[in-house]
Amino acid sequence: MEWTILGAGALGCVMTGLLRQQGESVALMLSERHRGHFHPHLEFIDITGQRQLFHSRPIFAEHANTVQCLLVFTKAYHVIDALKELTLLPSATPIILLHNGMGVAEQVLALFPNNPILAGISSHGAMKERDWQVRHTGKGDTWLGPLNEAAKAYQHLVPPLAAAWGHCEWSNEIILQQQQKLAINAVINPLTACHNITNGQLLESRFTEVLAQLSEEVHGVISRLQGNKAETLSEFRRRLHKVIELTACNYSSMHQDIAQGRSSENDYISGYILQHAHQHPVPVCQQLYQEIKKREQVIER
Ligand code: PAF
Repeated sequence: MEWTILGAGALGCVMTGLLRQQGESVALMLSERHRGHFHPHLEFIDITGQRQLFHSRPIFAEHANTVQCLLVFTKAYHVIDALKELTLLPSATPIILLHNGMGVAEQVLALFPNNPILAGISSHGAMKERDWQVRHTGKGDTWLGPLNEAAKAYQHLVPPLAAAWGHCEWSNEIILQQQQKLAINAVINPLTACHNITNGQLLESRFTEVLAQLSEEVHGVISRLQGNKAETLSEFRRRLHKVIELTACNYSSMHQDIAQGRSSENDYISGYILQHAHQHPVPVCQQLYQEIKKREQVIER
């Protein structure tokens, strides 16, 4: 079986490197802008600092009919445009969505009504050092689960991914887990991007108050969505602190996006919280959302 990775950003390339390290065959589905300057080798720097060059077969939208299993690492705001190009994708090909944030899957389900659609969450740390050179900055967990009926038969994808990625498990409550990850991202990502800090710096005393307020706002929204399946505020805060500690030296993905002059997943992270807050006030989340929007507008100009 050949895996196809769509989205050659930091995480997509790190997950490609880990699969190649395990001897899996991987094709990289590239966008038009890569056609002229694709480098045939991906330089993968593993967690111990060892460098390896991997060759991954580059393919483009016109090869979509050959795709056996599509792992989508494209940023949330590019997923729909990237998938719309794949008109030749066979209807039996499973599509696994691994972006941060939520609000995209509904459109993918409508666009590919016959394909098995899965969602995944992953907490691996990845950093792009330069074009086609990526560093694996933190080992993480990965969970996959079905978003439609057809996807329920795809549990067999998990063992080969677990062999390459270290941890990968099946979840029948993937939406719940996506919401829990989104809650973490809605605290860490905008704060680190706005203050230009690593995740670990959030533990400095100057952030104690904002961290307390934002975590309460985000927890309020997510727990109302999850009802009796929700974690308590103190459980959420414990989980949040653990993630901050485990990723202390990392720059969050939103920090990397803003610092490198790209759009961010703001609309799919803080935007998702604002959209589901309804009449409940979320002033800190709102302010951070607007601050990131302003920075994105400066980038777009
Ligand atoms: O988006 C990210 O950067 C990551 O999901 C996380 C967990 C915040 C670690 O940096």
